Amino acid sequence: MRLLSACLATILAVSVETKYIVPGGRWRDTDGNFINAHGAGITFDQKSGRFWWFGEHKTEEEPEGGGVSVYSSEDLATWKSGGLALAPIEGHPYIAPGGVIQRPKVAYSAETEDYHMWWHADNSTYGLLLQGHAVSSKIEGPYTFVDATAPLGNWSQDFGLFTDYKDGRSYALYSNGDSRDGRDVYLTSMNSNLTALDKVVHRFPKFDLEAPTIMQTEKSYWALMSHKTGYRPNNVVAFRADSLSGPWSQPFIVAPLNMRTFNSQSGFTLRIEGTKKTTHLYIGDQWDSNSVWDSRYIWLPVRTDESKKTLELEWHDVYDLNVNTGEWKPIKGKTYSAKQAKTHGDTYKQEANFATDGVILTGIYGNDSTVTFENVEGSGKPQWVSFYYQNTDDLGFGDQRKYTSIA
Ligand SMILES: *[C@@H]1O[C@H](CO)[C@@H](O)[C@H](O)[C@H]1NC(C)=O
Ligand SMILES: *[C@@H]1O[C@H](CO)[C@@H](O)[C@H](O)[C@H]1NC(C)=O
Ligand SMILES: *[C@@H]1O[C@H](CO)[C@@H](O)[C@H](O)[C@H]1NC(C)=O
Ligand SMILES: *[C@@H]1O[C@H](CO)[C@@H](O)[C@H](O)[C@H]1NC(C)=O
Repeated sequence: MRLLSACLATILAVSVETKYIVPGGRWRDTDGNFINAHGAGITFDQKSGRFWWFGEHKTEEEPEGGGVSVYSSEDLATWKSGGLALAPIEGHPYIAPGGVIQRPKVAYSAETEDYHMWWHADNSTYGLLLQGHAVSSKIEGPYTFVDATAPLGNWSQDFGLFTDYKDGRSYALYSNGDSRDGRDVYLTSMNSNLTALDKVVHRFPKFDLEAPTIMQTEKSYWALMSHKTGYRPNNVVAFRADSLSGPWSQPFIVAPLNMRTFNSQSGFTLRIEGTKKTTHLYIGDQWDSNSVWDSRYIWLPVRTDESKKTLELEWHDVYDLNVNTGEWKPIKGKTYSAKQAKTHGDTYKQEANFATDGVILTGIYGNDSTVTFENVEGSGKPQWVSFYYQNTDDLGFGDQRKYTSIA
């Protein structure tokens, strides 16, 4: 049972516009259903001119082995469901219900003229540590299972796939598990037809990180990864290099400390090459550790500075992205601060130098201890309301694992 000690700082109200991106919101597809595609990979397909979002289909009954969902979009905000691109098969050694089909990614091979899906394939106790491979002649699938293999004879857990936009070469990224001998992240080139792994290009040794992705700017490669805290968010780090084989920099955090990467985990980054600018989006997961099938998505613009060699995620409650020009802009709303709010029951105002106006509201619990923001002006139309909060039982103590009994 989670402690309900959320402390409300401010709320922000902006008008609803379906094409906006609202990190952490309840995203629905064009049929009105919640988008169910976690641990995502997004592929821009030249043939269809659309973005294709692949992700884990999670349900309460099948939280890890539900198969791979696919959605497509022209604007990255309006998503049409294509159902399951890879469906679990009863009794199958690698994609049976009850197993693990995680972090799927799809890339196109001009050589085989096929779409290749790769993912972390495992059994329910994570004892296999394999990479799954499936193929389809159509990007939306259905994909046909090919094999699940140990990459170059080794273990593979969280999976990422990166394609270099300069030469079209693809690479697999994978953490090699939690064993004593593992705890590395591998960057391994794939063969030109995406049917197998080729050779290890770099190993990030013993950092014990997972959920890897690589983002490429004009001069740099940036590898983003998270610590291993299960489904609890932590402070994602990045490494920078001029070349994929390194040397890679020391890791550094990509969001303000203790924000736990805005309550998200890394996993993918998307390059949008527009007519006016190139924008990179961080495609993260906001896992709900109590009901993982009900997790949300945190997509944020990434800002880099090649001369300072820095990378930062930019938080915006709501932003408008134009995939044609590559431009995006935050949508501004009106802010209501905790300082002016009315408290009831055990809710009280507490000094907090990190909060708006130096005050948070805490002790909000049950039906009797509440807070009221008065005189909130509505537009008379549907509006987005953002609440800024932090769990005080989870503040500031680093990236420790939830259960101390984990070895
Ligand atoms: C998963 O695979 C490992 C390695 O073969 C095996 O030891 C373990 O028992 C398997 N777990 C299940 C639930 O089958
Ligand atoms: C497997 O990974 C471990 C840890 O990264 C490494 O020490 C070992 O050499 C690798 N084995 C093979 C066959 O690549
Ligand atoms: C992919 O390329 C490898 C060599 O790079 C070759 O052995 C294999 O037959 C190719 N597979 C397909 C499906 O073309
Ligand atoms: C709080 O109010 C809701 C709605 O009236 C009610 O369903 C719920 O049982 C109440 N919870 C408690 C703890 O009183």
